[in-house]
Amino acid sequence: MSDDVKIFLNEEDIPKQWYNIVPDLPNQPPPPLGPDGKPIKPEMLSKVFPMNLIEQEVSQERWIDIPEEILEILYRWRPTPLRRARYLEKYLDTPARIYYKDESFSPPGSHKPNTAVAQAWYNKEFGIKKLTTETGAGQWGSALAFSCKLLGLGCKVYMVRISFDQKPLRKNMMQIWDANCIPSPSNETKVGREVLEKTPDTPGSLGIAIAEAIEEAISDESGETRYSLGSVLNHVLLHQTIIGLEAKKQLKIAGESNPDIVIGCCGGGSNFAGLSFPFLYDKINGQEMTIIPTEPTACPTMTRAPYSYDFGDSAGQTPLLAMYTLGHSFVPPPIHAGGLRYHGMAPLVSQGIKDGLLEPRSLDQVKCYESALLWARTEGYICAPETSHAIACVIDEAKKAKEEGKEKVILFNYSGHGLMDLAGYEKFLSNELVDFSLPEEDLKKSLKSIEGLPKPNNK
Ligand SMILES: Cc1ncc(COP(=O)(O)O)c(C=O)c1O
Repeated sequence: MSDDVKIFLNEEDIPKQWYNIVPDLPNQPPPPLGPDGKPIKPEMLSKVFPMNLIEQEVSQERWIDIPEEILEILYRWRPTPLRRARYLEKYLDTPARIYYKDESFSPPGSHKPNTAVAQAWYNKEFGIKKLTTETGAGQWGSALAFSCKLLGLGCKVYMVRISFDQKPLRKNMMQIWDANCIPSPSNETKVGREVLEKTPDTPGSLGIAIAEAIEEAISDESGETRYSLGSVLNHVLLHQTIIGLEAKKQLKIAGESNPDIVIGCCGGGSNFAGLSFPFLYDKINGQEMTIIPTEPTACPTMTRAPYSYDFGDSAGQTPLLAMYTLGHSFVPPPIHAGGLRYHGMAPLVSQGIKDGLLEPRSLDQVKCYESALLWARTEGYICAPETSHAIACVIDEAKKAKEEGKEKVILFNYSGHGLMDLAGYEKFLSNELVDFSLPEEDLKKSLKSIEGLPKPNNK
């Protein structure tokens, strides 16, 4: 086993195909439904997404080639390093070996450009000139702004108001990459105006911002605008699997076989799936492994919400997706992990939970900040508040390995740096942050928005 604290791959060793887990799942997720309650036909999505991405969304192929032009852009920062958290291991005095895939290495600072570049490229191939999107923490918006700039597309970002106010520096990044970033809800769409009329002081939500971005894309009569989503959908998770495929090669170089435990934080599920799905393949094929998606107690989609059909946006414009959901009317409390405040969970991740392949866990905000601080004071890096939800779980598992006296290998996705999120750290350091577990009353209220929607009848 290697003593190195960072394991690199050569550029020529970058994976040349993405891994699609769909054909390998023991049970297929139920199909998305249209407004008539029947499975949608791919063409019905064509005003929202280009056909080449819709083909990926419904693909049953296990391997999908990554176009050379996309690789050319990814080489700017990929393959990303696999690092060993030796200093944290030492501090915890644990027999566990902790590895992490450093996705903070990309120019915008997270895993998000892995799919942003791919989506911008496929849209450009299809003749699209402009993309609209939403963003929570600003990581996704800045990743799409960066990708659109490199590929010569226009970019409009609806940023959830609370994050727009909490994270002005992310807005600056989007402007540097030439995107138009505005707070959501806004006066620029019908959906936004309606929300503002009813609740002028709303902090906004990803569901509302998605609704605004879709409305703008589908109402462009030139047909040259499409919408781009940063998580949840199959093709987005597909593009992120480059993370896990690289990690597999790097673990081998480090002299490890597969990890015992794989961990990733979940907003819509893309960084978690990107790291874990290539390993989930091995688990489905009989290898023992614990795979843990984590989330905040303030937004407990995987640990407290029902599995149901629901819309992806607050206005009910998207197809109905089968997923764990807090209800599309859910307006999350303003915790600092802005990227983990989405009401639903990717249908593929949801299916894995339903089938008992994934073991979700929820964590309190204060414990996550304590873990982020310990991380910064041992490993040295300042992580994104979202990423701290993986680190807190890693620390729990490393302590458990010590109690059990077992040499476990833990792998997690270091989904982003927190250098644009220092306001949250400042609040934590001055004791202004409190835990917030979603009250049962609030959960019941937001679940009213899925009453009457169809229930998936898969296994
Ligand atoms: C750093 C970081 N990690 C994780 C997430 C969660 O998103 P996803 O579940 O799609 O990976 C986000 C979302 O914005 C993020 O910015």
